Amino acid sequence: MKTVQDHRASTMPVNLDYAAWLQATPVALDAKAYPFTQAIVWRTGRRVLDTAAAELCQGIAEAFAVEPKVGEAARLAPCRLYLGLPTDLPGFVANQVSAYVQQVCGDGYVIVPIEGGSLAVVGHVDIGCLYGVFHLLRAIRMAQPLTEPIVQSPHNELRMINHWDNADGTIERGYAGKSLFYRSNTVQFDPVRVRDYARLLASVGINAIAVNNVNVHRVETQFVTDAYLPSLARLADLFRDYGVRIFLSVNFASPVELGDLATADPLDPEVQAWWNSTADRIYRHIPDFGGFLVKADSEFRPGPFTYGRDHADGANMLARSLKPYGGLVIWRCFVYNCLQDWRDRKTDRARAAFDHFVPLDGRFDDNVLLQIKNGPMDFQVREPVSPLFGGLARTNQMLELQITQEYTGQQKHVCYLVPQWKEILDFDTHACGQGSTVARCVSGALFGCAHGGIAGVVNVGDDLNWTGHSFAQANLYGFGRLCWDPSLSVETITDEWVRLTYGDDQDVVSALAYILLASWRTYEDYTAPLGVGWMVNPGHHYGPNVDGYEYSKWGTYHFSDCHGIGVDRTIATGTGYTGQYHEPNRSMYENLETCPDELLLFFHHVPYTHRLRSGKTVIQHIYDTHFGGVEAVEQMRRMWAELADKVDPERHHAVRTRLDVQLQDAIEWRDVINTYFYRKSGIPDRQGRTIF
Ligand code: GCU
Repeated sequence: MKTVQDHRASTMPVNLDYAAWLQATPVALDAKAYPFTQAIVWRTGRRVLDTAAAELCQGIAEAFAVEPKVGEAARLAPCRLYLGLPTDLPGFVANQVSAYVQQVCGDGYVIVPIEGGSLAVVGHVDIGCLYGVFHLLRAIRMAQPLTEPIVQSPHNELRMINHWDNADGTIERGYAGKSLFYRSNTVQFDPVRVRDYARLLASVGINAIAVNNVNVHRVETQFVTDAYLPSLARLADLFRDYGVRIFLSVNFASPVELGDLATADPLDPEVQAWWNSTADRIYRHIPDFGGFLVKADSEFRPGPFTYGRDHADGANMLARSLKPYGGLVIWRCFVYNCLQDWRDRKTDRARAAFDHFVPLDGRFDDNVLLQIKNGPMDFQVREPVSPLFGGLARTNQMLELQITQEYTGQQKHVCYLVPQWKEILDFDTHACGQGSTVARCVSGALFGCAHGGIAGVVNVGDDLNWTGHSFAQANLYGFGRLCWDPSLSVETITDEWVRLTYGDDQDVVSALAYILLASWRTYEDYTAPLGVGWMVNPGHHYGPNVDGYEYSKWGTYHFSDCHGIGVDRTIATGTGYTGQYHEPNRSMYENLETCPDELLLFFHHVPYTHRLRSGKTVIQHIYDTHFGGVEAVEQMRRMWAELADKVDPERHHAVRTRLDVQLQDAIEWRDVINTYFYRKSGIPDRQGRTIF
């Protein structure tokens, strides 16, 4: 049997950051406490199950410095770890697990102690066994007892990563190097690296990956042709060992842009036939191909509007081409007018997705999912939840999150987004009364939808540590864990990541948890205030520029003048956006008295002297949070410095360097924002701190 190590090039440097949360260091535990680690029994010959067994062997050998027995020798060992489907197991093991296995759904698993010190890791499908193995290894590393049966089923069918990688090797909104998949307009990858990536993804339950940017340019349009499919099939093959299916972002105008037809009209039978044969070709190369991800009629990408058709016409046409093969169409709802006139106060970008898609609810085929960004704007540090969640009741849907830190510090700043995602998933839409959370909308549970899931725009590139900032790995880890189980607490996920990645030293664990848990709030504190968003430099979106988008066509305004700030999105006097929510959320946002402080300026235009629910005026809040935000970064930096002799020098230095940058940039944010609002309002800081 090949071990995972066999696949790894001997040239790959030993690097703690590279190992991420799958560290290979020995654990300070006695292997005797886990007697089943002596020997592993499984039926060889199935790819994913063989991967699971190889991971298990490797994980045990790394943790305890003892190779488990396999093959005939394993069968003779007194305690064993049985791995496989119920039909793979000896009768007495199958009997002891059957009651638990019956409780498992989809690609879930059970981990069940068997009489005499053995253990069984069992799923209904091989990939479930692999997830069970990763759970088991995590539990061992975290010194958790394995004396009680564990039953796990994923809450979401699709747990997906979206790569915004381009064929030339660049990554749109990428902050961790170049693409892992492409160079110079060809599919080019290091199989060892890709395999290690697939492994990281599978270890947190990710099962789908869109491998190219949603903005499909000229070269990537050809990905669906024979020129690219053989090399993409090789990529898919690497992910296949880890149960990750690949999807392609496609160009809606492909039939025209590839020079085959004069139209891409979704209702034209020739267009349908073109996509049918395209799907056929793709499945010949990639038999388990997941499907298409589509950005259409958005930010200059072509779509059905060109032909007077709507999104349902467009998505269903593609869906029908994939249907015979079991493929899915994931159609993005990030559709708005990006050529707005800033003088026009009636058009509201925040309304756009709901206005476009709610009228189409119920018209999409059953293999279409609508992928909806968490907020109505664009991945700002703070936005309300998109009212499409709860607004669509008869359509498969997915939540789209941004793991890559486009608007949240670009992986130079620590900004741990798991607390943000948790708030989003827990948000109660009240679509079917209390308890209609976003988590239940997107899993499909609330409305009984056939498909559902969560997608994240990934933060990974070819930097040796995957994510640029070592701490940004925590976002990828937490994303996967939340996709699997949105009910996990932020603290649990954080504790897992910290201990798996940086070890068990109590000072390290508590300092790192503190830094991570404070970081999202801190970033919010020194950037755009109270949910108003933006205020970044146009284009690259890094660093402060209060009016950067104020007179632009993108629809991202704050309307500050000498009296006040904010966007009136009320029904009474504003754009009416609040009307897109179900009650009681609608009234909560509509009324100044009940609107949460952190979203006040998203929903209301108020004077600087308006008193928040916290008791502070808006202007004083701006000053206080901006001074406080910088102090919080200073505190993080101090805490990290104190860990100098507890963390390996390489990771310690790399993080310290980034914290230095963060501090410098937080100061810039503080001074630009405070100075801007002081000059606009003329109101001084009550504490008399320096404003320029
Ligand atoms: C943001 C981002 C773009 C991206 C777009 C999208 O606007 O800045 O780079 O293409 O989102 O989600 O499609």
